[in-house]
Amino acid sequence: MKSSTKKEISEEEQKKLLIQQEITIVKRMGNIDHKIAVMSGKGGVGKSTVAVNLAVAFALKDYKTGLMDVDLHGPDIPHMLGVENLSLDQSPEGILPLEVRENLEVLSIEFMLPSKGSPIIWRGPQKTGAIRQFLSDVIWGKLDVLVIDNPPGTGDEPLTVLQSVSQLDGVIMVTTPQAVAGEDVRKCVNMVKKLNIPIIGIIENMSGFTCPHCKQEIDIFGKGKGKELAEELEVPYLGSLPLETDVRENSDQGKPFILQDSEMSKKFLDIFSKIENKIQK
Ligand SMILES: Nc1ncnc2c1ncn2[C@@H]1O[C@H](COP(=O)(O)OP(=O)(O)OP(=O)(O)O)[C@@H](O)[C@H]1O
Ligand SMILES: [Mg+2]
Repeated sequence: MKSSTKKEISEEEQKKLLIQQEITIVKRMGNIDHKIAVMSGKGGVGKSTVAVNLAVAFALKDYKTGLMDVDLHGPDIPHMLGVENLSLDQSPEGILPLEVRENLEVLSIEFMLPSKGSPIIWRGPQKTGAIRQFLSDVIWGKLDVLVIDNPPGTGDEPLTVLQSVSQLDGVIMVTTPQAVAGEDVRKCVNMVKKLNIPIIGIIENMSGFTCPHCKQEIDIFGKGKGKELAEELEVPYLGSLPLETDVRENSDQGKPFILQDSEMSKKFLDIFSKIENKIQK
């Protein structure tokens, strides 16, 4: 039999490396006062939109903020901030996040891909490993708050975040008003509860649409599911955000809507204040 040229790592050494990594994660996370994960059982409901605007809102209020994109297969945060063509600076001590505006640093796998459009084709353990490396090797420095944007569902990425980020303040759950979204979000809330992590609250996104021509309100996806779920699952309800063409357009152009003075940003700031109050308590 041909002997392998690869250096085999013994089980013992592997255990030691994992313990070492755990210690580094706890140390790095200890430098961050507040950690918030944005999640949903459902895809496309606005998690990344909420995460980006939440992080920018914190930065605008002088919080030293980090935004970590753990959506490895669909990293949308760089595009939503208009920085998708930038890459990370190398440092011998670790990975340096990208400063995208005053008080806001961002990390995403998108910054590490060889070219735009390169897919990540990884199975569970590789994804878990990558996220734990994000947590252990990234030099955020002293942060007031870290916002973590997750892919949909209850799979490897959100589970790794929930189990590895020490002293997570809690999870913001995003839903849309359709029954199917509600069912998936219920599962996600129950997973977070099982892990004894607080739910900061539920946001209902894409809740109603006002026609710009006739000004009539049309409930495209329905309305009220977020509040109903929050009551049923006994978790806080943070508020709703309507469907708005501007939100999608701004997001496509890399401009978070919170930077504009609009009804939408006022609504979001209301939700932001509730989140700010909850994490300060
Ligand atoms: N309130 C809104 N009004 C209009 N468009 C919105 C609104 N919220 C989000 N969008 C748009 O909907 C699309 C999906 O939003 P987003 O990417 O934030 O969802 P997501 O839950 O992060 O998706 P994924 O599950 O793929 O990560 C984006 O194009 C975004 O700009
Ligand atoms: Mg997303």
